[in-house]
Amino acid sequence: MKILIKNIKSLVQVEDNPRLKVLGKEMKSLVCIQDAWLAIEQDKIVGFGQMSDWEGISDWSNLTVIDAADKLVLPCYCDSHTHIVYAGSRETEFVDRINGLSYEQIFERGGGILNSAKKMQETSEEELIQSALLRLNEIMRQGTGAVEIKSGYGLSLESELKMLRVIKKLKELSPLTIKSTFLGAHAVPVNFKADKRKYIDLIIHEMIPKVAEEQLADYCDVFCEQNYFTKEETIQILNAAKKHGMTPKVHAEQLSNFGGVLAGVEVGAISVDHLEYVGDNEIEALKGSITMPTILPGAAFFLSLPLPPARKMIDAGLPVAVASDFNPGSSPSGNMNFMLSLCCVQYKMTPEEAINAATINSAYAMDLSKTHGSIAIGKKANVFITKEIPSYSFIPYSFGSNLIETVIINGKVIQ
Ligand code: NIG
Ligand code: FE
Repeated sequence: MKILIKNIKSLVQVEDNPRLKVLGKEMKSLVCIQDAWLAIEQDKIVGFGQMSDWEGISDWSNLTVIDAADKLVLPCYCDSHTHIVYAGSRETEFVDRINGLSYEQIFERGGGILNSAKKMQETSEEELIQSALLRLNEIMRQGTGAVEIKSGYGLSLESELKMLRVIKKLKELSPLTIKSTFLGAHAVPVNFKADKRKYIDLIIHEMIPKVAEEQLADYCDVFCEQNYFTKEETIQILNAAKKHGMTPKVHAEQLSNFGGVLAGVEVGAISVDHLEYVGDNEIEALKGSITMPTILPGAAFFLSLPLPPARKMIDAGLPVAVASDFNPGSSPSGNMNFMLSLCCVQYKMTPEEAINAATINSAYAMDLSKTHGSIAIGKKANVFITKEIPSYSFIPYSFGSNLIETVIINGKVIQ
């Protein structure tokens, strides 16, 4: 199976020497080839260049030719933070918030993550798979080619394993590249409210070993926050996970400045996510670290939170990634095009910075930047072709529009 896309108005995010991530000022540049071609064989990118340099093709058998005149081609987005496996929905809490309750108040009266955990217990694996597949198909059509999915609505050994087994099944069923994350430390479940320590011990001594034994998770994440898990508890849980081969991630500084970033840097987390309450201390700690600061503008938008200092982080020389946080409570959308609009409009990131954040840097945040996140020889053929649009800046500019015409995943056109 071969695909040739020709007459591409602009082939965006091209790399001759692939990088693992882009930092600071580098984020402002995005290499493009105008009037370009792109060749795909099996599931890989095998060639690209300018139409004027195209030497034709010797073997036309099994070749699909796509004419992309006046259209752009981009690498698919990488969405490095989602909770796409969930049961039911939470629009009643959305209305409660409109009427004045805060996200924290809703949690304190047993809603929020605990509401989703209750629904999770009552839902079968098969139902979870079917609803998650619908969401995966939706985000794929919106240009996402790789996605990280967390557990964390289980909050018991059995229910966390159920979620992770569902994610494992999704890896088989969906053409998307999927990474899985164990998030048992998403909240303290109701039955452990009086004894949080006991729940942490359960996570460390039972859940993590079992998850590792069944090889169900690439990462381990903790929600480091007031009323959830402290910095010290976060470090303990993530160190235990590391011993079992899981790479740390942290939900950090979302609702207050609570030590999540410092914990993440200390344990060598691959990413720290949210970052609404990041200050100078955290920015200093992130400098020179392996940890990718990741903003989740859908959640800050939906919960009306203060904005993470993305501009300040980039100006300080840090890389920044963006992900959707797709989940029923704080970001019921996985549309990365809309995340780009939020990056540009609210965070004053340039379209180049936003696209770098949503491709190569978000690929880094899920250990995929060697194979995803840019147009480079040998990388996975996960790309999308836009409708006829004037430039890549038109994507974040046209917020709410669907500008994607064709999505190619693993070298196959998605019908
Ligand atoms: O990333 N902050 C914690 N966890 C999720 C929200 C989960 C929920 O409300 O269901 C988040 O925003
Ligand atoms: Fe999250």
